[in-house]
Amino acid sequence: MNKEKLSEEYFIPGEWIEIANKILKNKGVILVLGATDTGKSVCTLLFANYWVKHGRRVGIVDVDMGQSDLGPPTTMGMVVINKRIKCLEEVSPDTLYFVGSTSPINYFLPTICGTKKLINEGKKKGAEIIIVDTTGLIKGYPGQTLKEYMIDIISPCHIIALQRKDELEHILKKFIQNEEIIIYRLSPCAEVRRKTYIQRREIREEKFRKYFKNSSSLSLNLNDLILRGSYYCSGIALEEEDVRFLEKVLMIEVIYAEKIWEGIFIIVKGRAPEGINDFFQIKKRFNTEKIIITEEDKYKNLLVSLDNYQGFVVSLGIIQEVNFKKKCLTIHTPLKNSKEIFGLKFGTIKISLDGKELGKIHPGEL
Ligand SMILES: Nc1ncnc2c1ncn2[C@@H]1O[C@H](COP(=O)(O)OP(=O)(O)OP(=O)(O)O)[C@@H](O)[C@H]1O
Ligand SMILES: [Mg+2]
Repeated sequence: MNKEKLSEEYFIPGEWIEIANKILKNKGVILVLGATDTGKSVCTLLFANYWVKHGRRVGIVDVDMGQSDLGPPTTMGMVVINKRIKCLEEVSPDTLYFVGSTSPINYFLPTICGTKKLINEGKKKGAEIIIVDTTGLIKGYPGQTLKEYMIDIISPCHIIALQRKDELEHILKKFIQNEEIIIYRLSPCAEVRRKTYIQRREIREEKFRKYFKNSSSLSLNLNDLILRGSYYCSGIALEEEDVRFLEKVLMIEVIYAEKIWEGIFIIVKGRAPEGINDFFQIKKRFNTEKIIITEEDKYKNLLVSLDNYQGFVVSLGIIQEVNFKKKCLTIHTPLKNSKEIFGLKFGTIKISLDGKELGKIHPGEL
């Protein structure tokens, strides 16, 4: 079969070259879809290298925050290339967007929003063709919803559908009638290697380890930053007298509490109380139905993103210490100063300083 060597390791099959040539004429945004381990990322690399070889400026947008090739896990990345690359991991991304989770489940909004923002950045940087590599989440209602809305928001001119059988058809059938989208169905290459859950986790941990290799402690004054992803600092701190009242009712040390728009947000030391009977007094005193109690420990080792004013990542960090009252945070980060930082997003996974995944935080817990 006619095939061409477009990277050190991989050949592009002849059938794919025909498609690459068709897209070369049209330009625009190209979406690569497929289940896990169907060769989406290698396919993205091969197509991007082919178009670069034919003189195009190519944007690669990697929206797989779990097995991301551009940038560390929990982020989605974009790079514009004008020469062939060996692998995506060797290039440093132009722009990163923080999702904060290693899976899009429960985080569809940041995933969709980041995808759109990264494509826009690629266009601004002069990319003529932008190819978007995606996660393997295609199954069931979540997979279908995520991919359908992703197609809606990015309006690709071409979809490259890598499927072993017909596993993408439930998504593709919604767009078959759309004359502005051309769908190419491809079979995964026989050489595609599958990764187990453990291997995926090890790959992520190795990437985190590398990312934080030359990190040190950095102190941040949270009063200077826009915070996202936590109730903390979204309302008004309670007075000492109110905090003492909460401690008496809950019979636990309260480190900090805030009146937030939907109720009362309380951070406690140790395990948060579970019974809701005592909460009646709290509800009455603060005239609210909603009480959110979280544990101080939830913030320890939490991954955060330090963002610029456009909402893109300047650097990631791991929380070491929070002084909730003083609104001071110490993080472990490769960033040496906080000059460029405009905002901080709390992530949803905890990692050790050497990159080990320690657990997850559920939506609305912080
Ligand atoms: N065309 C190819 N030729 C040789 N090996 C390949 C080819 N495509 C994929 N592989 C092998 O299979 C592995 C998995 O491929 P790839 O990472 O592209 O899959 P994926 O669908 O992006 O996976 P994920 O679901 O984790 O995102 C690659 O690391 C590579 O070793
Ligand atoms: Mg991939």
